[in-house]
Amino acid sequence: GQGVLDRLKQLKLEGLAPSNKDDLLMAKGLDYHVIVRWGEALGPNASFGYNNDFTCFLPLSDDDPTDGLLWVNHEYVNPLFVSGFDPTKYENPDEHRTKEQVDKEMYNVGGSIVRIKQTNGKWNIVKNDAHNRRITGKTPIALNWDHPIKGAKTVIGTNSNCSGGITPWNTFLTCEENYDSFFGETVYDLDNQAQHRPSEEGWERFYPYPPEHYGWVVEVDPKDGSAQKHVAIGRYAHECCTLYELPDKRVVAYSGDDKNNEHLYKFVSSEPGSLKEGILYVADTVNGQWLALDWESQTALQERFKDQTEVLVRCREAAKILGATALNRPEDIEIDPISGSVFVSLTNNTDRNDFHGSILKVEETNGQYDSLTFKASTFMAGGEENGFSCPDNLAFDMAGNLWFTSDISGSKMNKDGPYLPFKNNSLFVIPRHGKDQGKVIRLVSAPNDAELTGPWFSPDGKTLFLSVQHPGEQTTDLKNPTSKWPFDEDGLPKPAVVAITGDLIEKLNKLHLLER
Ligand code: FEO
Ligand code: CA
Ligand code: CA
Ligand code: CA
Repeated sequence: GQGVLDRLKQLKLEGLAPSNKDDLLMAKGLDYHVIVRWGEALGPNASFGYNNDFTCFLPLSDDDPTDGLLWVNHEYVNPLFVSGFDPTKYENPDEHRTKEQVDKEMYNVGGSIVRIKQTNGKWNIVKNDAHNRRITGKTPIALNWDHPIKGAKTVIGTNSNCSGGITPWNTFLTCEENYDSFFGETVYDLDNQAQHRPSEEGWERFYPYPPEHYGWVVEVDPKDGSAQKHVAIGRYAHECCTLYELPDKRVVAYSGDDKNNEHLYKFVSSEPGSLKEGILYVADTVNGQWLALDWESQTALQERFKDQTEVLVRCREAAKILGATALNRPEDIEIDPISGSVFVSLTNNTDRNDFHGSILKVEETNGQYDSLTFKASTFMAGGEENGFSCPDNLAFDMAGNLWFTSDISGSKMNKDGPYLPFKNNSLFVIPRHGKDQGKVIRLVSAPNDAELTGPWFSPDGKTLFLSVQHPGEQTTDLKNPTSKWPFDEDGLPKPAVVAITGDLIEKLNKLHLLER
């Protein structure tokens, strides 16, 4: 009745102040428990990988939102914790890492499928469930493309899995972001001559796989763990892949290339229920145009590349030839369930002295997601005035409140300079209604050096799944780690996925009653 609506209009949140306490702090009205942490056994032949990022939950049946499959990305490793390799000990660290160490590291990237269930309010993993499995840096994965890439139609492994998405046909999407840190990159000079630029981690010393086998969007079928890489969506440092289903069941996939001065892309499939074929576009945000990365119709691309496969493998170069707009590190993308606008995190760009980033709003013309034109505007800028810096992952709840995380890098957090006032990385919400409408409220503060990633709501909207990635990342001595979260007996920090519940989530979800 009117009483409820009046109370919702008065809703005021008690946010957290910035903090550098080594703990996962919750605002009043929120609680958390750990679901799964690095190294935990999922079954006889699988353990949970390192540096969990994207999380995504799919119920096993439509009638029970408390039993389903959790997909988790494992983006990269901290060798000191994972393989025991300490790069700080050597002048040329690459020459000292052993194959055994690389093998351990390759196991700990990729993704996990874990069955989880909620009982008495707590989510737990169902150990040894037949669905539980790992996809690692060594799992063979088919390329979903008619032409081989560097001689292969099946490639070895996935890595750098940052954010992701879910398809309308209930499969998971996991995106290969900074793949060049493991296998390097092929770079081309003005005469189109190729050269290998070595990676930081040096995996190619033992496993010389072509860099061209990474940097794709990977689709994983949760039922059997089978995976495929979608070449048509293009190759670059994919942050995420956010899908919209058109009325005729074709899909539009948005993705950003998270690097200074790189671009925003969208792919429009030509077949319903499939990501195999379609047209890839890159954004000119100044003129509001989607430019087709299409070799057949673009003569400028024909001058540099021999066919469409080359255009897709070398997207960054192709995008620049067409005049795509250089953006400030486009990261996560979500579609507002109420207005239909597409929100894009632009995390920062040190090249342009943009330290705090912003959230960009993209409105497709006439609300048509396959439109070739759009309007782009800044929704909110980071900085002290708005109380956040470096936006990264985004999530809308059922009421259309915007939740987002910050990613101030561990080497800059809590140091002198522009990031000092923000302290540890956090999770924020921008309420859609109530007394705090449009304000940025800090709800969760991360342990030392950590980043909060992968916010994802359970189907009933009552649980927020969240990754705590790289706690204690600045550690140089295992006897004296910079974080001890989640406070295990061994005193070592561990990346983990948590479930956040509480009446604050329920109250925020009720704000949809004020939509009209
Ligand atoms: Fe892996 Fe762009 O964050
Ligand atoms: Ca990250
Ligand atoms: Ca990210
Ligand atoms: Ca980031």
